[in-house]
Amino acid sequence: MKFLTNLRRHAAARPALLILALLVVGLGYSVVSPQQSSAETEMTQQIEEGKALFDFTCSSCHGLGGEGTSQGPSLIGVGAAAVDFQMGTGRMPAAREQAQLPSRKVNYSQEQIEAVAAYVATLGAGPEIPAESAYTPEGLTEEEIARGGALFRANCSACHGIVGGGGAMPNGKYAPSLVETDAVHIYEAVRTGPQQMPTFSKDVMPDESVREIIGYLDEAHEQPNYGGLTMGDAGPVSEGFWAFILGIGGLAIVATWIAKKGARAR
Ligand code: HEC
Ligand code: HEC
Repeated sequence: MKFLTNLRRHAAARPALLILALLVVGLGYSVVSPQQSSAETEMTQQIEEGKALFDFTCSSCHGLGGEGTSQGPSLIGVGAAAVDFQMGTGRMPAAREQAQLPSRKVNYSQEQIEAVAAYVATLGAGPEIPAESAYTPEGLTEEEIARGGALFRANCSACHGIVGGGGAMPNGKYAPSLVETDAVHIYEAVRTGPQQMPTFSKDVMPDESVREIIGYLDEAHEQPNYGGLTMGDAGPVSEGFWAFILGIGGLAIVATWIAKKGARAR
């Protein structure tokens, strides 16, 4: 206390304080203000880029303002998540009329996809592209993954099969296999309901439940399957072969994991 009082009484204290205050304000301003405005221009730039790409690639079917044509539905209110899903799995842009568009090789960068998504989001509010924390299966407990399995069997397996291997639908359509699907696209499919798939809102299925389902699928598709379900049709030789590969591979992975963990602990 005595030290502080002495300091305050010092002749230079006031001017020094004033200079300090000015410095703080000035620095604060120069740090905050240009950042804000550059983030804003980046946003509008992204939307403009997205609109240009949309007008060129998508508007022939979805209309110049995304209002839809006889060739494609309106995209007003489908949200950024629907665009990220449709373009990110290679379904869009559709090449031609088909009962169902298969997922294909993606010819656009994630940046381009996000630009189109940002533009479509300006047409009407809809589900957003989720943050990674909403869909990453990382950190889920065994109990949560088991709950994900129960949720999947109750809500999804009627169409997609018990472990997400896919299944036939009426009129020659199908619910695709989910073995190769990225976590983010699983999340987006749940929120946007492509084609005959129902849309699950956050009220019906909170983010945590979607994450648990993703965790279940992740685990189900990671684990070697000795049941003979997905081993092709080459019979016991192929099964033995796969058992060997998966067994040894699995052991190798476990060994590496243990070694890594040990190294980290040290
Ligand atoms: C050749 C016509 C055609 C082109 C080109 C096309 N689409 Fe589509 N799009 C369709 C049709 C038809 C559907 C509905 C069938 C379906 O959902 O699979 C559709 C559905 C969609 C959906 C799903 C809408 C919903 O309700 O969830 C999105 C999102 C979409 N398109 C985005 C795009 C984007 C973005 C582009 C450009 C990169 C594009 N499409 C190019 C025909 C087209
Ligand atoms: C009524 C049947 C039905 C139900 C129930 C259903 N789906 Fe689907 N799902 C579909 C169909 C049909 C498609 C293909 C849509 C397309 O190709 O545009 C699909 C597509 C998907 C895709 C995209 C896969 C890919 O090709 O990359 C994912 C992921 C998905 N569903 C997850 C789920 C999950 C998770 C649930 C449960 C919460 C669920 N679905 C419930 C019918 C269903």
